Amino acid sequence: MSSAINNLRAAFFSHSILTCTYEKKSFIIRNRFSHQFKRFHSSMGKHLAHSNTNVNGEGLPQLFSVAPMMDWTDNHYRTLARLISIHAWLYTEMVVAETIVHQKDNLDRFLAFSPIQHPIVLQIGGSNLKNLAKATELANAYSYDEINLNCGCPSGKVAGHGCFGARLMYDPKFVGDAMSAIASNCDVPVSVKCRIGVDDRDSYNELCDFIHTVVSRSPTAHFIIHARKALLSGLSPAENRNVPPLKYEYYFSLLRDFPEIRFTINGGITCISQVKASLREGAHSVMVGRAAYNKSVIVVRYLELDGIKLLAVRWSPKSYFVAMLSPKPLCSPWNTLGQVDSEIYGASRIHFSRRQVLEKYQIYGDSELGKYGPNKPNIRQIVKPLLHLFHSEPGNGLWKRKADTAMRHCTTIESFLEETLEAIPDSVLDSTLPIIPPGEEGVFFDKTLLPPPYKSCQVPGLCVRV
Ligand SMILES: Cc1cc2nc3c(=O)[nH]c(=O)nc-3n(C[C@H](O)[C@H](O)[C@H](O)COP(=O)(O)O)c2cc1C
Repeated sequence: MSSAINNLRAAFFSHSILTCTYEKKSFIIRNRFSHQFKRFHSSMGKHLAHSNTNVNGEGLPQLFSVAPMMDWTDNHYRTLARLISIHAWLYTEMVVAETIVHQKDNLDRFLAFSPIQHPIVLQIGGSNLKNLAKATELANAYSYDEINLNCGCPSGKVAGHGCFGARLMYDPKFVGDAMSAIASNCDVPVSVKCRIGVDDRDSYNELCDFIHTVVSRSPTAHFIIHARKALLSGLSPAENRNVPPLKYEYYFSLLRDFPEIRFTINGGITCISQVKASLREGAHSVMVGRAAYNKSVIVVRYLELDGIKLLAVRWSPKSYFVAMLSPKPLCSPWNTLGQVDSEIYGASRIHFSRRQVLEKYQIYGDSELGKYGPNKPNIRQIVKPLLHLFHSEPGNGLWKRKADTAMRHCTTIESFLEETLEAIPDSVLDSTLPIIPPGEEGVFFDKTLLPPPYKSCQVPGLCVRV
């Protein structure tokens, strides 16, 4: 594992490797803007080297994180995300405990990551205490910054294999014991990612009972709350991420009722202005999933008030998020992630462009191709996270069509980019991130909906009040 990590680290940080690559046959990106490329290397190299934080709490707090997403937040995506934001916390896709246990001779494939990905959280899924404990012990050697247990995934694929994901919310005692086993087998903090409820077990008090029980039985001090319930039958996983209504009021009530616990809000947050609005309302931290990968705003209405153009984004059935209309859409993955360091962590703005990010990613991608055997990974897997980089920009449609063709015959990321990027105008490739106009944060949630304070454990025999 360490040699793979060292190679990657070298590829990202070593000046000589970067210079060397730069001297090689240049491709379209470098050709046109070599001076910018050089400047970017020095600023981005410094940026990464100084700011990537280490395991064991030496980093910046988890104010903003990118959600675990199966088949999406793999190593390739996380590398790209880290080139755009150095401070965002990154979650892995869920790795099933049994996979880790049964593949213990082949663990790099599932658990290795480049050190530039810190701070990074491993999400584990499972329902067998022994396997969860063993998987954590094995994963501990990889120095993740936190270990998270999936209690929110309603996917049939997962839920069908016994008591996994959101189904675990039916058994808070088990989750408490699982978290205790996980915590005793690793050196880092542990957390739970859950829904606000499951099926008809969806009252605020039942959610509190769940939290209370887990906290009473384990050292868990961080919960990520996907603020909609999961329905275990009748809805597809995708519908389960859209249909049950968001109830942010549950999340904000947890802050009130469990002041010792850290809570991250998740679900339906589509751009950086909404992240800021949540933090301003008191959220400890915010997790964004689809909007950090491929999704723009959900529903937009255009309004005009006293001559000021506004756009309204549907936030929950009863509330709208209102922002000033800006000439460029601010809710795209590039803009969302790209704004995190300055807007959320207060870092000084580094002006870099997508062309520069692609330069870096190409070096990474070409060093990864075929690393685990022929076509493992293949071009398609490495290119996949790039496909949303030009979301809603001129040339995006053509670039995607070209990408689709190029993925069939290109053998390197370099040739892939050479062949496809001509579809994107230079003005887009070289634009840096827009500055968010002040005052874009709108009303976040309706305080009149807050449930009354949590009284006591409602499940007979479940809780021992601490
Ligand atoms: C393709 C996809 C895969 C997902 N896989 C996981 C997963 O492995 N573990 C998990 O806890 N949540 C998973 N989720 C749910 C997200 O982590 C997140 O909770 C959900 O998308 C709501 O956040 P969002 O509205 O910001 O996207 C997945 C979501 C998507 C879109």
